[in-house]
Amino acid sequence: MRKLRWLVRAEAKIKVIAPEVDPEIQKLRDAGKLTIEKSLFYSEAVTASLALVISATNATNVSEEVSAAAMEQGVLVNCVDRTELCTVIFPAIIDRFPILVAVSSMGRSPTLSRSVRGWIELRLPKTLGQLAELAGRLRSEVKIKLPSIDARKAFWEEVFVSKAADEAMYGSMDAAVVEAEKMMASISGDGSIVLVGAGPGDPELITLKGLRAIQSADVLMYDKLANPALLEYARRDVELIDVGKKGPREAVKEGSDAARPSGTILQQEINQTLINQALKGKKVVRLKGGDSFIFGRGGEELLAAAEQGIAVEIIPGITAAMGGASYAGIPLTHRHMSQSVRFVTGHSVEHGANVDWLELAKPEQTLVVYMGLVGIEKILQRLVGAGLSSKTPAVLLENTTLLNHREVFGTLEDLADKVRKEGIDGPSTIIVGEVAGIPAKVKELYALARTSKDS
Ligand SMILES: C[S@@+](CC[C@H](N)C(=O)[O-])C[C@H]1O[C@@H](n2cnc3c(N)ncnc32)[C@H](O)[C@@H]1O
Repeated sequence: MRKLRWLVRAEAKIKVIAPEVDPEIQKLRDAGKLTIEKSLFYSEAVTASLALVISATNATNVSEEVSAAAMEQGVLVNCVDRTELCTVIFPAIIDRFPILVAVSSMGRSPTLSRSVRGWIELRLPKTLGQLAELAGRLRSEVKIKLPSIDARKAFWEEVFVSKAADEAMYGSMDAAVVEAEKMMASISGDGSIVLVGAGPGDPELITLKGLRAIQSADVLMYDKLANPALLEYARRDVELIDVGKKGPREAVKEGSDAARPSGTILQQEINQTLINQALKGKKVVRLKGGDSFIFGRGGEELLAAAEQGIAVEIIPGITAAMGGASYAGIPLTHRHMSQSVRFVTGHSVEHGANVDWLELAKPEQTLVVYMGLVGIEKILQRLVGAGLSSKTPAVLLENTTLLNHREVFGTLEDLADKVRKEGIDGPSTIIVGEVAGIPAKVKELYALARTSKDS
């Protein structure tokens, strides 16, 4: 039965010759998988047209007859537990269909083969076969898009250790195909776009993946929020395109954008430039401040590219809220103090008629306001109006994670005044909630610890 199962699976044309037949074999016959001839073995049954003969019997003389008949006809033969009569043996199999691993001891020790099989079994993911399915799905497309054998080989080697492989093995075959197609696009000369989150300022906060994307870019599009130091990592022949909305970082004055085209028009221009470059067959890396998908309009760029059928990869970045909070020592969530975090934009909070202030002013929550410098007075007042205590800690982080950073700590009542007095005018993020009081607490504890050590 063990051998029959494999042969049936391989869709072999099978005939069983036996005077009596096991009920399981009958079932296979009934399912049309094989035929049965109820008879003792006879040599004439072995003809040269057969591919393989197997003797699975305890009757030693029968195995000898089978082997002799097969050898005479030049047909491959396997006799169970009689290696000396075989011209072919069946190895121990690790089944990750359609990937099969065979372990053989050349008949010397089937037990050892099975042990080795056990060791390998543990190492091979159960869903390995899905990778073969992924390869099967992409095969013809890869042949067309990557005509050179070397390019194909490099592509497959990369795919099998990529996110595409993980997706396939976790059962998301469609997602795996999309990932692999992106990789194909970058090798095949079809243009592609990579949206890289550069982090909030400190160039070391970019991910390794983001850095690698910069290094491999044909075209690097950046704006004033991405640290210019990162451009140094690009290839010498890279084409640099500044799509900054407000000029160089140092000149940024929030709210001073009256003379610029509207954000929407400018964004459309950026989308078009991205697309035009990718359609030229370039690998376009779009470097964005923070994370592309947090108030970064990355979603719009993704949709515009998808409309043109251009592959887009998105590499996450550390958003200003998270980078800033960490650098300032503010845990955005803290047990018994803040159970959730909300990221909002100052523009929407300041102008939006539909803002649910009661929601924003909920206790035990941290509120992070991006682009809130211009409207800081209004925003803080409304939070108090919606029920937050005027003594709630609040902080404004300017140029966070950069050397020229400034932090202004206060409360809902006095933060806006302090910020104006400091003359803050760089990119700023406001954090409101009890957690904004933690840095002061930490300072206090360090001071106490120092005095108790000294005394
Ligand atoms: C258009 S949004 C981009 C946000 C970005 N995608 C992110 O994930 O951080 C620009 C706003 O992000 C915040 N921001 C970006 N970099 C910052 C920094 N270094 N320090 C403080 N806030 C920053 C400011 O609120 C700024 O006005």
